[in-house]
Amino acid sequence: MQGSDRMRQQELGGGDFAGRVVVLLGGGSGLGRAVARAVCAQGGEVILGGRTAEKLEETAAELGSQVSWMQVDTSDPGSLERFFSRVEHLDFLFNTTGDYVTGPLRELSFEEAESAFRAKFWGQYLAVKYALPKMAQDGAVVLMAGADGARPTVATPAYVACNAALEGLARGLAVELAPIRVNALSPGAMDGNFWSTRRPEEARREAFERYSRLNVLGRVGTEEEVARAVLFLFLNSYTTGTTLYVDGGLSMR
Ligand SMILES: NC(=O)c1ccc[n+]([C@@H]2O[C@H](COP(=O)([O-])OP(=O)(O)OC[C@H]3O[C@@H](n4cnc5c(N)ncnc54)[C@H](OP(=O)(O)O)[C@@H]3O)[C@@H](O)[C@H]2O)c1
Repeated sequence: MQGSDRMRQQELGGGDFAGRVVVLLGGGSGLGRAVARAVCAQGGEVILGGRTAEKLEETAAELGSQVSWMQVDTSDPGSLERFFSRVEHLDFLFNTTGDYVTGPLRELSFEEAESAFRAKFWGQYLAVKYALPKMAQDGAVVLMAGADGARPTVATPAYVACNAALEGLARGLAVELAPIRVNALSPGAMDGNFWSTRRPEEARREAFERYSRLNVLGRVGTEEEVARAVLFLFLNSYTTGTTLYVDGGLSMR
């Protein structure tokens, strides 16, 4: 769609995302699903990716005909390449995928320690590589990092380094891919699917108390608060190569 057509469609009440295609890898749950809801509410088209068909199907059924989905394993470069070969065009990309292990240097095996880089860093790097030929020049990528990269609250050095590396990747890609904009998002702890499915109740409560004690706002965040920040980074036409901390002030303490 041409810029003038897009503006006309938005004036007609189609929403900020009218005529725009958003690819959400990991969008079958959690933060990605919250972004999918927000984009659909503003008239956008969403393509979801993930490993589990049921989750993707459920999200698509909730949100309606603007949403389609395809299975992909972002830890497999061939799978990512096939996924994007079936995407005709996209304007925006956000990727929350990746299973990884966190923990101290003294306790993790090398395979566990490097899992964050393998799953979270290289998965996002390769997704951008394969998405790029299909991306609109006025489009944007939001990389998923994490506020622990700037302000570690527990000993998990490889995971901290992975998040910091993703912030660096945003700066590097912003230079290479301009005028496509690339930014990183670094959330603190957000109450939602990640914590309820990946951590036992006791560990979740301990972490939420710790984050609430350490940040400025005295509480954990919500998935919707992240979604609003992602939409800002998609649409703000003069923001690139930066990191947005949606962390209740954690990273500055
Ligand atoms: N929630 C927070 O508090 C928080 C804070 C800071 C940073 N983050 C970052 O946010 C990301 C997690 O997002 P979330 O909170 O929305 O958690 P989530 O609900 O667990 O979402 C992750 C999604 O990624 C998919 N996925 C995982 N591995 C995949 C793979 N190899 N290929 C394709 N899809 C895969 C999962 O679905 P399948 O398993 O079905 O594939 C799932 O839908 C992580 O990078 C995490 O470091 C989260």
